[in-house]
Amino acid sequence: MRLIDGNLIAQEVLAEIKARVARLAPIIPHVAFIRVGEDPASVSYVTKKQKTAAEVGMQASIKVFPETVTQADLFKHIDALNADSSVHGILIQAPLPKHLSETDVFNRVASQKDVDGFGTLSIGKLVQEIPGAFAACTPAGVIELLKRSNIETTGKHAVVVGRSLIVGKPAAILLISKACNCTVTITHSQTKDLSAIVRQADIVIAAIGKPKFITADMIKPGAVVIDVGINRVADATKKNGYALIGDVDFENVSKVSSAISPVPGGVGPMTVAMLMKNTLDACERANARG
Ligand code: GUN
Repeated sequence: MRLIDGNLIAQEVLAEIKARVARLAPIIPHVAFIRVGEDPASVSYVTKKQKTAAEVGMQASIKVFPETVTQADLFKHIDALNADSSVHGILIQAPLPKHLSETDVFNRVASQKDVDGFGTLSIGKLVQEIPGAFAACTPAGVIELLKRSNIETTGKHAVVVGRSLIVGKPAAILLISKACNCTVTITHSQTKDLSAIVRQADIVIAAIGKPKFITADMIKPGAVVIDVGINRVADATKKNGYALIGDVDFENVSKVSSAISPVPGGVGPMTVAMLMKNTLDACERANARG
């Protein structure tokens, strides 16, 4: 069994990004974050993204709104960032409170600054395989993990477990694109006989948000397993009171798979690295436009 080390691969990607950022001087790529409320996972993700931006020489700014913010106030701030030529990428951390429409909020971001790839135009461009389309960072990170681990994708059957806008759907689009050439099945909570379908997979992308949902009996021997789940599970033995558990029963699945990404240290760091890459791409493009 081969461990797909996301920390190591993300460091490789970030080193390349840092070199590209340095070449852009005096222009500094700038990613603007918006966070609504104090969801602990969101606070931790955005903090990590800000730190990584600083490490590769990018600027990161953040605006935090209270849970009660109106969509109009949020739009006002997004509009100002859209109009600010020093901002190259805008990221609104999901999930948003229920009274806000995530799709409307994501679509307010100017498409050339949609480094999260959640806007209608970005997704459309991804489907149309238009070069330079922003792919959502987590699925882009999954593909980068596969590519940099030299895992053959052409002709392979990839089964995506989960159909979210953030992971499942864009992951499937990327896997069927000519860059990967997989045959793709998307499964979800209403899929009948999910285990039998996952068992057919050469590559399993687990993005369902349920701890240890994918068990060893669901894996074809020799399959490659990418675990996108980051579930916080209460654990009194941990300092912060919780453990991070993936969607895959790592201990047992790793005995059957040929390669597997762990949680933590798998897809998570790649998501952050791909955000930096998308922001840098956005900055280089804005600069080329003049
Ligand atoms: N919430 C979970 N993952 C992500 C992500 O990649 N981007 C944003 N904006 N929110 C998220």
